[in-house]
Amino acid sequence: MTDTDTDALPKLLQPLGRWSHTFAYHALDVALERAEGIYLFDDKGNRYIDGSGGPMAVGIGHSHPRILRAVSDQMARYAYVHPMLANPRRGELCDAIADVAPGDLNNVFLVSGGSEAVESAIKIVRQYHRATGHANKYKVISLAGSYHGMTLATMALAGSALYQSEFEPMMSEWPHIAQYSDFLKPAGMSRDDWGVHCAQRLETAIEQAGADTVAAFIATPHGCSVEYAVVPPVTYWKEIRRICDRHHVLFIADEVVTGFGRTGKWFGMQHFDVQADLMTVAKGMASCTQPLGAVVVSDRVNQPFLQGTGFMHGFTYQGHAAACAAGIASIEVYRDEGVIAGVPERSKLLFACKDRLLAHPGVADVRGWGMFMSVELVSDKTTRSGFAPDRQAELLFLTLALRNGLALYSMLFNVPTSSTIPARGSLMRMSPPLTITPEQVVDMTERFETTLSQWEARMGITSHAPLATTTV
Ligand SMILES: Cc1ncc(COP(=O)(O)O)c(C=O)c1O
Repeated sequence: MTDTDTDALPKLLQPLGRWSHTFAYHALDVALERAEGIYLFDDKGNRYIDGSGGPMAVGIGHSHPRILRAVSDQMARYAYVHPMLANPRRGELCDAIADVAPGDLNNVFLVSGGSEAVESAIKIVRQYHRATGHANKYKVISLAGSYHGMTLATMALAGSALYQSEFEPMMSEWPHIAQYSDFLKPAGMSRDDWGVHCAQRLETAIEQAGADTVAAFIATPHGCSVEYAVVPPVTYWKEIRRICDRHHVLFIADEVVTGFGRTGKWFGMQHFDVQADLMTVAKGMASCTQPLGAVVVSDRVNQPFLQGTGFMHGFTYQGHAAACAAGIASIEVYRDEGVIAGVPERSKLLFACKDRLLAHPGVADVRGWGMFMSVELVSDKTTRSGFAPDRQAELLFLTLALRNGLALYSMLFNVPTSSTIPARGSLMRMSPPLTITPEQVVDMTERFETTLSQWEARMGITSHAPLATTTV
């Protein structure tokens, strides 16, 4: 990288072609030629580590031969058939998911992605309560600042101006509760007790809304927005489960990011030995090789649908044969090639850089689990304050990382057009494909640290404050 290049950063890049872009800027608009394993290659021969696995989604290295073969074999026979006709791939995939899903989560409704999965889960819980004589139970409580997708109903769950302000009034004004936060834990209180306290906000919200009107509670196994990847203590989830049972409220675990091995187990909630009534999955399910998602439903919740209540549903692409072939092959790779079994060891290597990162003046926290690390970048680690959008902190970090051969994903909150200023720091995530080798983990974290030092120099963050307490 030349000095001139550095001075010119960050650049606002135009998307290639007439693609209508979604977020304000595309720092990563390099023209990709191909991808293999953990690497992306552009049309100029540059190589980048896919450091966030796309948007925390690619679980198996790109172009895995077993998945390529499965999809192309299926395409050669038929890619898609009329949904009323028998489609063996569809059934095989549902069986494979039921085999790896915990407890009695045995019933699989296939869709094409995470938003569709959450939207479908909302429909299932509402229809379930109607069918079991509780037609008035329709509200879905969620965490403030959460993210469950981009359809109108899933955005209503977000409880965040970022996703909602352009669309208000939302379709449903459902209650939101504050999420678990280590940062806000009162001094002197144990994590376990704080976990119970935070969970009890759900009970208060249910009582305020009227238990006879609440259908479900939805949450991701780890924190969202400024608390992204904070892992609550077991006490939190046990208490959530107890409250849901007490008030006849179904618990939907949104495992779109945490599912399929990302955290070191097949599904994130397995770490807490707490089973949800419904689980939404996508992303890692077919490792993004095909658009694929699902709602996985417990036997109890599925009961009314077996007894004659038809689920009012049906997307053209649900059960798409080529997508199902990709899902089946992915599950085989995760299981038979020891990918998920290998995550705990890889995770130790990933988190080996934690203390070095924490020693940086621009890093307030390093947290996460499995092959998922969130690094909270701040302008001042004692106050934990973030950056005004016009400083383009995230865009600069992403651009420098690219120059260092590392492609990262971020929400690009810190850009001039951002409508919301984050309450705290900005998050950079390392969540590479789970098939990454030990040497590649070291290479990736070194590139991240180099980027961090360059970024701090450009942002003028130099004072060394004491180490922040950590939450992992
Ligand atoms: C927790 C969670 N749920 C749902 C979604 C929506 O998934 P999709 O983008 O596939 O619609 C996402 C996407 O990032 C997510 O992180």
